Amino acid sequence: MLSKDALPLIQATLPVVKEHGAAITGHFYQRMFTHQPELKNLFNMGNQASGDQAQALAGAVYGYASNLGRTEITEPILNRIAHKHVSLGITPAQYTIVGRHLIASIGEVLGEAATNEILSAWDEAYWLMATDLIAREARIYQELAWQAGQDWDEMTIVDKQQAGDGAMAIYLRTSDASPLRPFRPGQYISVELDVPALGLNQCRQYSLSHAAQDVWRITVKREQPQQGPAGNVSNLLHDTKQIGDKLRVGPPAGEFVLQAEARPVYLLSAGIGITPVLAMLHQLVAEQSPRKIIFAHANQSTAAIAHWPEVIEAMDALEHGELALWLDEPTRNCAAFTGRMDLAQLGALHAQADFYLCGPLAFMAAQRQWLLAQGVPAQNIHYEAFGPDVFGAA
Ligand code: HEM
Repeated sequence: MLSKDALPLIQATLPVVKEHGAAITGHFYQRMFTHQPELKNLFNMGNQASGDQAQALAGAVYGYASNLGRTEITEPILNRIAHKHVSLGITPAQYTIVGRHLIASIGEVLGEAATNEILSAWDEAYWLMATDLIAREARIYQELAWQAGQDWDEMTIVDKQQAGDGAMAIYLRTSDASPLRPFRPGQYISVELDVPALGLNQCRQYSLSHAAQDVWRITVKREQPQQGPAGNVSNLLHDTKQIGDKLRVGPPAGEFVLQAEARPVYLLSAGIGITPVLAMLHQLVAEQSPRKIIFAHANQSTAAIAHWPEVIEAMDALEHGELALWLDEPTRNCAAFTGRMDLAQLGALHAQADFYLCGPLAFMAAQRQWLLAQGVPAQNIHYEAFGPDVFGAA
């Protein structure tokens, strides 16, 4: 709980801090990287260039400060951040560094308006959130038997295959033949590579699209060069990493996983967003799930769908599976709707279902809005946003 002195100061200054949010977080990253340049290896320089990470951090801090005590709002945000941090091996000591630069940045951007009392109130709010995150992360690390800050696992690329237009399936095995770490379908791993163009290491998260007993598979989409640093790691995986090469890999993390309740399941994806829901589909097949399962996917064409033959095979193996496609280009021998995904075209909705969304933000926003309008409870709509969660932050 915030102290009784801090709460009114936070409430009174929230609008002005929010108004200067982008400037504060922009200033914060610049300040922190000047003092601690090694942290540039940890942060995605593509997201820094686009400002998305600043937006996500700002969204989280304001979201938390303005919803203190409303756990139904703060819980999912904190869990998502904690999982992302765990996948990157963030340590408690780093919270001191981040806190110092964040509070100093609020002071430097707001100038004289930021009195000592105001800054210490924000410091208190920061540490309230930080201690909560540190505790969550400690629990997740413990479950994973992973020490924050430990060396990452070394994994070897054992196969590499084209998996649809612009996507590459990369198969990984532990280099020392130790068992794979526990993984829940829908989760992701962080992969760290040297990026010579930046003179830095960079980490990226990739959902596992499949996991067998001793092999994990990530499916990586090539990013177009005009998207600037966005494809730094993905394109290196495509172009320079070969079978036999080693990768540094963090622990599996993420809370986008199938809920235990035996409700119908909608797996809704677009483009490369198919990867985590494909892993869930494999789980449902392996469990011989009796649930009603609707796998709905939007893409340009069937040729562009990553692991398309595998999707068909998995759907055939389900007792109550229904496949629905929305394609830009009509395909012979394949029933599909055209244009954007519109679930109304499937007839009556199973409102008491769990919905799992992954794809571009505009796709997820449109689906979520429509589902809410149909009366689906928000807690039954689960999503995975690739990159900083500007979706949840909004
Ligand atoms: C109260 C403190 C903190 C808050 C509120 C916070 C918030 C966030 C948020 C909202 C994200 C985006 C998550 C997503 O949606 O993907 C994120 C990611 C991240 N955070 Fe934190 N964070 C905090 C502390 C830290 C600390 C101490 C570090 C360590 C230096 C850190 C490093 C990172 C990194 C490296 C990412 C991934 C971003 C990227 O790939 O560029 N964070 N954090």
